[in-house]
Amino acid sequence: MKIKSLLSVLLLFSASSLFAWNNDIIVSTPNTSLLLNAPKGGELKIVYFGEKIDNSEISQIYDSGIASHRAAYPVFGIDCQTEPALSVTHPDGNMSLDLEISDVTTAKETNATITTVTMKDKVYPFIVKINYKAYNNTDIIETWSEITNNEKKPVLLRKFASGYLPIRKGDVWLSHLYGSWADEGRLVQEELTPGMKVIKNKDGVRNSTTDHGEIMFSLDGKPQENSGRVIGAALCWSGNYKLSIDTDNNREHQFMAGINEENSEYKLTSKETFVTPELALTFSNEGLSGVSRNFHRWARVENKLHNGKKLRDILLNSWEGVYFDINEKGMDQMMGDISSMGGELFVMDDGWFGVKYPRKDDRSSLGDWSVDKNKLPNGVPGLVEAAKKHGIKFGIWIEPEMTNTVSELYEKHPDWVIHQSNRPLRTGRGGSQLVLDVSNPKVQDFIFSIVDNLMKENPDLYYIKWDANMSVANWGSSYLTADKQSHLMIDYHRGLRKVLERIRAKYPDLVIQACASGGGRATYGVLPYFDEFWVSDDTDALQRIYMQWGTSYFFPSNAMASHVSAAPNHQTGRIIPIKFRFDVAMTARLGMEIQPKNMTDKEKEFSKKAIEGYKQIRPIVQQGELYRLISPYDKKGVSSLMYTTEDKSQAVFFAYKLEHFCNQSIPRFTMKGLNPDKTYMITEMNVDGKPVFLDGKKIKGSILMNQGVELPLNSEYSSRVLKLTAL
Ligand code: GLA
Repeated sequence: MKIKSLLSVLLLFSASSLFAWNNDIIVSTPNTSLLLNAPKGGELKIVYFGEKIDNSEISQIYDSGIASHRAAYPVFGIDCQTEPALSVTHPDGNMSLDLEISDVTTAKETNATITTVTMKDKVYPFIVKINYKAYNNTDIIETWSEITNNEKKPVLLRKFASGYLPIRKGDVWLSHLYGSWADEGRLVQEELTPGMKVIKNKDGVRNSTTDHGEIMFSLDGKPQENSGRVIGAALCWSGNYKLSIDTDNNREHQFMAGINEENSEYKLTSKETFVTPELALTFSNEGLSGVSRNFHRWARVENKLHNGKKLRDILLNSWEGVYFDINEKGMDQMMGDISSMGGELFVMDDGWFGVKYPRKDDRSSLGDWSVDKNKLPNGVPGLVEAAKKHGIKFGIWIEPEMTNTVSELYEKHPDWVIHQSNRPLRTGRGGSQLVLDVSNPKVQDFIFSIVDNLMKENPDLYYIKWDANMSVANWGSSYLTADKQSHLMIDYHRGLRKVLERIRAKYPDLVIQACASGGGRATYGVLPYFDEFWVSDDTDALQRIYMQWGTSYFFPSNAMASHVSAAPNHQTGRIIPIKFRFDVAMTARLGMEIQPKNMTDKEKEFSKKAIEGYKQIRPIVQQGELYRLISPYDKKGVSSLMYTTEDKSQAVFFAYKLEHFCNQSIPRFTMKGLNPDKTYMITEMNVDGKPVFLDGKKIKGSILMNQGVELPLNSEYSSRVLKLTAL
């Protein structure tokens, strides 16, 4: 009797476990796993996300009690006290959804596997597919949904998040970026407390000038750069977004991200499918830096950053050098100067265009992309030729999504701007700037033609700086019908994506920078089409340490345009030595933003050597693994970071003094990412005066990482760059 009951308990146990196993799906990358529970006819649940597990460990996730049992894509209408990912109104007015799983499929791609869970409503012909794309060479899982209306009439989508993730409560901390113009990418770290935390953007055009659509969750208390479990998330959308974390009485924080649904309700017509943007998720147990490396690798290897594996050129941009004062002689002089310092590319910024209304300042001419022959008698072809003569490449600035009230374009097509026909226009920059209605296919064609015409006229044009300097002010489209005005912010960005896809299909090698009043377009929503972005209009090296630190949380160094500019700095007035300015700019894609003819001979000489040095370390910086070491936000008076090659044979280490006092004690610098058993030769770079005592020393990786090195940073704006080569 005893044996019989024991047997039946065992049978029951294995049957229920088997049942669970049969419905459990592991979605894995090389080092991470997402465990889903997907019973046919039942609800899709997220059970686990973290370190990689295999089939044999599934039962242990349940046995240990760590399994979460939360809906993977919560919908509104039935038992819906928590925040929904999806809420709709059916044609009959019913506002509920009740989804059950009808199918689970997997599709293999060369570098990824996509798991698709199809769910249908129990009453309405309404389908929701949830996709999880797991890469096999980077630790990223992308999730997005496809919402199909098979009802006879339109269904109103009121909320349509890309993805959802439960995060076990505990001492969970958030790291995210906020900022403003000239102060983008500021890091904020905070503990999650009860209530709703919402991170959002409503600019319409520039979705990273202030808050960013990417975040990290440190699961083991206060965020650490190189230890602890961290989950990272990045929304791949260029428009308005909303990230929310709801902390209620449930065991998990509930994280959700997607297009900002506010004022963007979407009327899904019969048979139409709404595809949400991807939400990229990652996990690392190597701290915040580990999550950053996962994002960086994905960006480079999977071209989530256009041409991610390509090394970027060293350039001079004309903006801070001459502002709107463009002329042929001046451009030629700047090209000659950057070429003589070893630069590889010159970019002519704003001020080169406008025939009827020449662009003298920011009050006119956007949209009139014909060269001002008074300034440039030989046009753009003349400049491309001049660049060749100087042995460098040529690039140009445009702001294709914009116009001014004072422009030929606006005179011809007043209906092409975002506006409300019965209200006066609100203008932006220069008191006259307006945003074009990119939801309009005619506007899309026009934007494509700007790039196409430039390229047709100048096949050797190498680089375009694509700017966007205004937010949407007059919400209204004369292209969209009255019942679809709320689609504007979605259709604008879908339209933009269409244009960018066309440009990339025709010009895959053209280098394009995303600029939006500085760092307003640091987002994976556009980076698959752009080679880099302008981090900020603030080029002050000290402030850049903070901004670039934050921006590096999610974006790789070769995406981050970082320029050496004048002293005193044009934004802060700070006078910083040329060495410090270079040492900061060299941690990312190096460039210059300065009038070289105003530089001293000594500064020019230093620049030449620094550029030569950057060429040596460029593959390490632009393709290496980033280890952030001492955070400027930790207020230790110094900051440092380093890059190592994947095989750990080479590394570059950077350290900066952030503030200076007598008898100040600064920490020892311990390194990361080296081979503990290899000995490294240390060479100082950008030496200004006497090399540091470490120069020429051979030290083992284990000592460099476990004990560290002492580094004298004895004056204001001291900085050091060390190259490490494994012997
Ligand atoms: C924006 C950009 C700058 C510069 C100007 C030109 O502000 O961020 O880098 O290109 O426009 O008007």
